[in-house]
Amino acid sequence: MGKAFDIGLQQLTGSPPDPWAGGGLPVTSSQRGTFFLETFGCQMNDHDSEKVAGVLLSRGYRQVESPEAASLILYNTCSIREKAAQKVFSRLGEFREKQQDGKIIGVLGCVAQQEGEDIFKRAPWVNLVCGSASYRKLPEMLAQLEAGNHHVTGLDTDTDETFETEVTRRDNPWRAYLTIIEGCDKACSYCVVPFTRGPERNRASDSILREVRQLADLGYSEVQLLGQTVNSYADPTPRRMRFSELLLAAADVSGIRRVRFTTSHPSDFGRDIVEAIESQPKLCEHVHLPVQSGSTKVLRAMQRTYSREEYLEKIGTIRAAKRPIAITTDIIVGFPGETDADYGETLSLLDEVQYDGLFAFKYSPRPNTPSLSMKDSIPEEEKSHRLAVLQDKQREIQRARNASLVGESFEVLVSGKSRREYQWSGYTSSHRVVNFASQAPELLGAYVQVRVTDATPNSLLGEHVI
Ligand code: 5AD
Ligand code: SF4
Repeated sequence: MGKAFDIGLQQLTGSPPDPWAGGGLPVTSSQRGTFFLETFGCQMNDHDSEKVAGVLLSRGYRQVESPEAASLILYNTCSIREKAAQKVFSRLGEFREKQQDGKIIGVLGCVAQQEGEDIFKRAPWVNLVCGSASYRKLPEMLAQLEAGNHHVTGLDTDTDETFETEVTRRDNPWRAYLTIIEGCDKACSYCVVPFTRGPERNRASDSILREVRQLADLGYSEVQLLGQTVNSYADPTPRRMRFSELLLAAADVSGIRRVRFTTSHPSDFGRDIVEAIESQPKLCEHVHLPVQSGSTKVLRAMQRTYSREEYLEKIGTIRAAKRPIAITTDIIVGFPGETDADYGETLSLLDEVQYDGLFAFKYSPRPNTPSLSMKDSIPEEEKSHRLAVLQDKQREIQRARNASLVGESFEVLVSGKSRREYQWSGYTSSHRVVNFASQAPELLGAYVQVRVTDATPNSLLGEHVI
């Protein structure tokens, strides 16, 4: 197997060296394999990929930009909706021939966990199938591949550990993702996550804060705490830090200017989180609070554990905060049994809440989920129609909300530079995209004041205030 595939077994058995110390990688990468890692799906997947890349780099691999140049091709996959899962198999098909060149092909993430060894049947050229709860064992799995094992799996979800790495290769130089909870203990009837990511595992608060300090030392000014239900955080240490305390402690770290968190579950969203945001300007004024439906009847069928009224109470608490907090959400249309009246309640919820942003999806039946036994009763065209009407409505809400910000000034973390000269982009604390003009020669990574001069439904336009 794999001629260029040398993972350096001596590295696997010893403790991984610190590649940050002394600059550059600890071993000459020419002795090692090269890897290409492609990621589909959510921020949790993006961040898992950063950690997987860290494991590989610390073992002497070199990351390359194309599958052609790689000895190891990895796909980190998403199975939240059927379309995403299908994409993986068509992509794997494209790489069938590559394996004949001696390349190793691995499927990671949610499709790996969900399909398991069936992937080998459908795509026998795949060598590694590994779900996210098994990433801790990646070095051992790589060693098995190195030893010539053709089909290696990591599919346990019964671990109570989180995946922490000595090194994480982060994609963004200013914003660092940091997982605080893995898996999910809720049981929303449509959702594969409890199956693909396993039960909830909480990371120790001292370990989280240690990493925040390291990140600040490395120059990151923004951290984003991640979890499928991030606000359900339950500190496993005797300190028993509440989620809101953890947010405040992260914001206290010197060098950190912004702390974000996603995704929040409404049932665990307490007033203390709003109070923390009110009291500490470094906590970003944005809450992503998926509602999924505006109808209590549909919410019950979804097993979402709150009613429309209870959800609206939480919204009331957020809207009553001393500083404005942007609210975004996720919505599923066409859930089994969703009547016109139920759907109408979702539309009226949009009017009532006035969201600052929204991700909407057509219901997609998924393997293993309780809702699979319900008849997928809403025809595809009707789902598409409901989705389009909902998105049109939200676009108008965002148009008006963003237009009301014209004339105001916001602090923007500059994260992009346009090809057009003197044009930059970045994010406000409320996570709005701002495109703005500035004559400054270099702004990437800087925090600047921008006055809003115009607005579209999805972004603000502005000018640098000096
Ligand atoms: N069908 C459609 N959308 C789904 N989501 C999760 N599972 C499904 C499904 N089976 C959506 C939810 C969730 C977001 C990440 O994806 O809105 O909040
Ligand atoms: Fe899925 Fe519900 Fe858990 Fe979110 S809270 S990951 S929707 S089961």
